[in-house]
Amino acid sequence: MAKKVFIKSYGCQMNVYDAERMADVLAPAGYALTDDQDAADLIILNTCHIREKAAEKVYSELGRIRRRHEETGGARPTVAVAGCVAQAEGEEILRRARHVDLVVGPQNYHRLPQLLAEAGRATSRGGVVDTEFPLDSKFDHLPEPTARGPAAFLTVQEGCDRFCAFCVVPYTRGAEYSRPARAVIDEARRQVAAGVREITLLGQNVNAYHGIDGGLAALIRALAAIDGLERIRYTTSHPRDMDDALILAHAEIPALMPNLHLPAQSGSDAILARMNRRHTAADYLRIVEALRRARPDIALSSDFIVGHPGESERDFEATLALVREAGFAQAYSFKYSPRPGTPAAEMDGQVPEAEKSDRLARLQSLLNDQQLAFNRRAVGTTVPVLFDRPGKRPRQLAGRSPHMQSVHVDCAGAGEAAALFGTIAPVAVEAAHANSLAGRLASDRPAAGRLLQRETAGA
Ligand code: SAH
Ligand code: SF4
Ligand code: F3S
Repeated sequence: MAKKVFIKSYGCQMNVYDAERMADVLAPAGYALTDDQDAADLIILNTCHIREKAAEKVYSELGRIRRRHEETGGARPTVAVAGCVAQAEGEEILRRARHVDLVVGPQNYHRLPQLLAEAGRATSRGGVVDTEFPLDSKFDHLPEPTARGPAAFLTVQEGCDRFCAFCVVPYTRGAEYSRPARAVIDEARRQVAAGVREITLLGQNVNAYHGIDGGLAALIRALAAIDGLERIRYTTSHPRDMDDALILAHAEIPALMPNLHLPAQSGSDAILARMNRRHTAADYLRIVEALRRARPDIALSSDFIVGHPGESERDFEATLALVREAGFAQAYSFKYSPRPGTPAAEMDGQVPEAEKSDRLARLQSLLNDQQLAFNRRAVGTTVPVLFDRPGKRPRQLAGRSPHMQSVHVDCAGAGEAAALFGTIAPVAVEAAHANSLAGRLASDRPAAGRLLQRETAGA
């Protein structure tokens, strides 16, 4: 009988991609994915170390797993901790949570079947740890990916050499590595053949991709030539690596969607310098201007940290000013969280928690206003939506606009919903909410049957 694996991912999209690839690695070893943690023979927590809260979640989840097992008294599942906490804490996890069998870093999960066998043999219940950065890339050892829906992630670059003062990623994911373009294009082709219509290229510093002459812009051009691939996105970008060729790609490649996640972190030059971001607020705004010249309807999103060491009220106000000046369709904002081993954790001028909370609330209020205003501008327009998931209500479908907004529509029946799933269809937007749009299928759309044919013809 097939064994069952339950994988829970925290953190960024790269962990989502990794979780899928772990499932691909485990399938030949006889593991089928399950959504039911209680039914699992193997539980993998795919963890995030970016902020203290994210890292601590792992230990509370591990505690829950242990208590759950004690309550039910069933067979003990094998417990593995993967991802960035695994990389950062290694052995420490085995000390804090003795029921963990395996700790495996983000660059080693291609070895999961062997590691599980080793963990099974470890009679002393010591647990197995593999967090060495291997010399050869895991990508050379992973099996072919399974497509799991019309919108897919594709990791093209991993690791980071930027060393922002606050950030653990260079330590948990290692040095920047770009997959060769050939491998990326082959993987994209297979995804498209399996029904994928939209690919988001992933990298911790994706616009530093150098797996092909001409960098990320050249890769995007090559991918745009794949018949049937209708939408391309990429994330996350560093302002310093936003070159002219990539900005031009936004003007010239219709499949490249008009949205960009470009973390600013702060609007204060003094704080940006302390953060080691190596650009100024004016540099950031110049890039925004160039992007808007290239693609006037581009929707920008961003990340911000409030209360970085040294941040004064005036520095924070400079962040608010940058937000007002740039105008964002969406953004994430966080209270600075000191991370072990990073330079910022040792800096003077740590900001009191109450101050951070106050600044976060003020920033989020401004960002929320901008997001709602952006969504409201869509009301009355017709937008092409890639339907990639069921909605919350029966017969409801959900998808994404070119600007990454979630869009919900009610279908006439289950048949229409099934025919539309995985296709791109025009939606007349009727209402805007803080985090989504609602509308109806535009009447001038081609019959669902024809749409399906067109969509599959390119596959
Ligand atoms: N590689 C991406 C994302 C890194 S993590 C980039 O360069 O932007 C995602 C976001 O988490 C960051 O953009 C930053 O805003 C936030 N972040 C990272 N470290 C943090 C910390 N120590 N405290 C609070 N937020 C942090
Ligand atoms: Fe972290 Fe900075 Fe690298 Fe982004 S660019 S992953 S914030 S070090
Ligand atoms: Fe978290 Fe690691 Fe991603 S620390 S944000 S899971 S790269």
